[in-house]
Amino acid sequence: MNILWRALSFLRPYWTTATGAAFSLLMVTAANLALPQIIRRIIDDGIQGGHLSTVLWGALVLVGLAAMRGVFNFAQGFWSEKASQNVAFDVRNMLYDQIQRLSFSYHDRAQTGQLLTRLTSDVEMVRQFTGMGLFQFINALLMLFGSAALLLWMNWQLALLTLATVPVVLAVLLRLISFIRPLFEQAQAKLGRLNTILQENLAGIRVVKAFTREEFELNRFRAANLEYLNLNVRALRLFSSSFPLLFFIFNLGTGGIVWMGGEMVISKQLSLGELAAFITYLNYLMFPLLMVGMLGAMTARAAASARRVFEILDAQPEVTERPGAIVLPPIRGRVAFEDVSFRYAGSEHDSLSHVSFVVEPGQTVAILGATGSGKSTVINLIPRFYDVTAGRVTIDGYDVRDVTLSSLRSQIGIVLQETVLFSGTIRDNIAYGRPDSSDEEVIAAARAAQAHDFITALPDGYQTVVGERGMGLSGGQRQRIAIARALLLNPRILILDDSTSSVDAETEYQIQQALEQLMRGRTSFVIAQRVSTVRSVDLILVFDAGRLVARGTHEQLLEESEIYAAIVHSQLL
Ligand SMILES: Nc1ncnc2c1ncn2[C@@H]1O[C@H](COP(=O)(O)OP(=O)(O)OP(=O)(O)O)[C@@H](O)[C@H]1O
Ligand SMILES: [Mg+2]
Repeated sequence: MNILWRALSFLRPYWTTATGAAFSLLMVTAANLALPQIIRRIIDDGIQGGHLSTVLWGALVLVGLAAMRGVFNFAQGFWSEKASQNVAFDVRNMLYDQIQRLSFSYHDRAQTGQLLTRLTSDVEMVRQFTGMGLFQFINALLMLFGSAALLLWMNWQLALLTLATVPVVLAVLLRLISFIRPLFEQAQAKLGRLNTILQENLAGIRVVKAFTREEFELNRFRAANLEYLNLNVRALRLFSSSFPLLFFIFNLGTGGIVWMGGEMVISKQLSLGELAAFITYLNYLMFPLLMVGMLGAMTARAAASARRVFEILDAQPEVTERPGAIVLPPIRGRVAFEDVSFRYAGSEHDSLSHVSFVVEPGQTVAILGATGSGKSTVINLIPRFYDVTAGRVTIDGYDVRDVTLSSLRSQIGIVLQETVLFSGTIRDNIAYGRPDSSDEEVIAAARAAQAHDFITALPDGYQTVVGERGMGLSGGQRQRIAIARALLLNPRILILDDSTSSVDAETEYQIQQALEQLMRGRTSFVIAQRVSTVRSVDLILVFDAGRLVARGTHEQLLEESEIYAAIVHSQLL
């Protein structure tokens, strides 16, 4: 119930439109309820009383009522749909905003397909509920109670006979709703699963083909698709088996009315017009009851979807700005780890334990270590992608948790291990962090990243459009664009995660020459696989299983660290 109220609160900004829709609906209902009374007058006073003028007037009023119903029907349909479309628009934006704000740790665990389903299909369910669902529900209740009241007013004995069927119908409907709700909830979850498989598969289609796993993936998809179908069929079966039962109960009621009402008309206790009106109201009673049933199921579905939407909206970003976080002033670039330990959410062991080091402004640091030793983890903590589990990370003496995220991250240039480019031109991609940069700045950054030459060799140069993952470019080219993108920020702190691993030795040498210049005056962290990269750096940090096991320059480490000596030895061979 709370969930539904909360979903309805999205209508608040559109209350005028919603009120207009509700008012129109009221008028439609009023016209519907008045109709049988007019017919009763036509039959009793006009036809049976022999007054043709009453019949004519009655016919005119019927036409008038129909016109009025048409106008208000249109207004109601348009306004309620408009309000609900606006709600969907807002909810999609809110979800997107929240997804942008959630931390790395949330996205580590979230499945893209599930997020997509919530943003599309679940939002649609909530929309239908806030639009059609709510209004039709009120309409149905008004029709139900209005018809019941008019029936009781016209003839209470006959009315009670009719109304006796209502509790039975309601019982059947409630049973239907209670069974169907969990099915809908499962169906949305299955749809999310289906989308996850689909999304994963599309993203990895090359791997699938390379390993000839099409058959396997197809079966996996089919299985999930079948589960989704089965759930829907089960819901459908419940639905369709309930309705004939409802109709039967109703027809029993109609039978009773015709029998008893007919007897009453014959014995002059009831007029013919009243019997006609009675039968019409009986149908009116039937319609809203079925409607309530349908809407009950729809509401159940909306509640399930709204819960999934709110689950995202209510998720707490783990990395948040503390109240009163200050804006980090322009930094010099002194980075210090003070007894830092870190464990990923849901992980069994620390990925970093008791790591302490200091990097002075302008120094270049190389981070070495076996795969999984914690290199990427170290650099993830500097822009505060994750919060430390113990200890602290400071920049120029400021704890990174005390400053605003944007002032921190905008001063750090980062090239992540996985290169992601966005669909758009190469220029747009390089200027991603500072879209207002001039062409000269973009070109300077590209030159520094050794990307300028290959970019100008492309037919469209900087205007070449790259796909969502930069298809049409080689791995090394993509990486160099990512480096240019980081350099363009002109950051005090530059972080390169494995950024030279997928270029050839010659290009690596060139990048290095350029980077050496670029790194001058910046604090730079380079995660490198090759010893050649680290010869000339100021400080080498060697990690092993989350521990900082050795530090120093190349010469120092060669003498002091067995692990380092081993790494160098293996690469020289
Ligand atoms: N998002 C995550 N959630 C849970 N555990 C993680 C996550 N990322 C990394 N880990 C774990 O933390 C440890 C360190 O990982 P990290 O990515 O820092 O390694 P790395 O030194 O960068 O390795 P590589 O050279 O392969 O990039 C590993 O044991 C890894 O399994
Ligand atoms: Mg890594």
